[in-house]
Amino acid sequence: MFQSPSVVRFKGLGPGFWPVTIVLALLSIANAWYFLYGNIDWIMPGASQPVADRASDIDGLFKFMAVSSGAIMIFVAGYVIYFAIAFRARPTDSPDTIGVQIHDSPKLELWWTVLPALLLILLTALSINVWYKIYFGTKAPALTMEVIGHQFYFEFRYPGLKTSVFSKTEPMHLPVGVPVRLLITSTDVIHQFWVPEIRLKSAGVPGLVQSLNFTPLRTGTYDIACAEFCGADHSLMRGKLVIEPVATFNKWLDSENKTAAAGGGAINLAGGSAGTGKTLFAQKCAACHNNPPTPFDQKLVGPGLLHITDDPAHPTLVTGKTPTPEHIAEILQNGFTGPIGTMPNRQANGLSDKDIANAVAYLTSLK
Ligand code: CUA
Repeated sequence: MFQSPSVVRFKGLGPGFWPVTIVLALLSIANAWYFLYGNIDWIMPGASQPVADRASDIDGLFKFMAVSSGAIMIFVAGYVIYFAIAFRARPTDSPDTIGVQIHDSPKLELWWTVLPALLLILLTALSINVWYKIYFGTKAPALTMEVIGHQFYFEFRYPGLKTSVFSKTEPMHLPVGVPVRLLITSTDVIHQFWVPEIRLKSAGVPGLVQSLNFTPLRTGTYDIACAEFCGADHSLMRGKLVIEPVATFNKWLDSENKTAAAGGGAINLAGGSAGTGKTLFAQKCAACHNNPPTPFDQKLVGPGLLHITDDPAHPTLVTGKTPTPEHIAEILQNGFTGPIGTMPNRQANGLSDKDIANAVAYLTSLK
């Protein structure tokens, strides 16, 4: 004979509902107190002493989300656990018992739609406010400079500085307490300029200039990383940011101009060692040129460099010049941009005079 299964009737929210609600509310308050007044430097390095004014704005958004989403997580998970225990199957229930059957609860549905919607609208308003300050700035910038992404380094251009600063060989410098504007772009693929401790990040997009505005507040040395996968050496695209007193910063700018004036001349190629050049080639050139060197047409990123001085099919260098040691050194010094692509200059590749002499000795030995 058929028997319909016994259905448990709705008899309220259970004996522990209100005590559990109070405990969950207290946990939410403790969570909020921790994120608003506790020391969260272990999750957010520098949170207690912001490195830049906008860093504390970003941390403010993080705290708002940690407090509100923390409370949501505590209540949702807490009630799931409470109801699972309070309305578990009892030994006295018949084996085919099914739970309370509830369909629709307009009042409940209204609130769980309206409250999250209000929360998201508030978060949007707070975020747009912070974004606006970062993108357009709150004060006229005293220093406007350019950050240009390349595969695989950042180039920094300062007003009044005749040469660029490259992340591979030198840190970026900024003066403390001065409103700065960074104009960010890229020459090849999409990069992402990111300084975790100032909480600011901007994509470097070819053909698009975006800006980051902030005032550094604390001196020190901080990491710069590229945060957009941009090719084989993306993980090596890192650098340092030095925030220093204005006087030190100005002294650094002066010294950069003096170095630029002193360098850039002809390099003494005598005494270059092909053996040392071979090691250097493996370290600095092999990311873009086949190692061991191959004929010209076997390209990696740049052409193969075997027979660079005695290839009948390519009697001249990519610059159109004869393959003399001096002309090879010129490419290593200045870099080259052509239909094949771009080779960065010596500053970007971190090549000393001696390195160039050794590399030239090695390349001219490849016959
Ligand atoms: Cu540039 Cu990743």
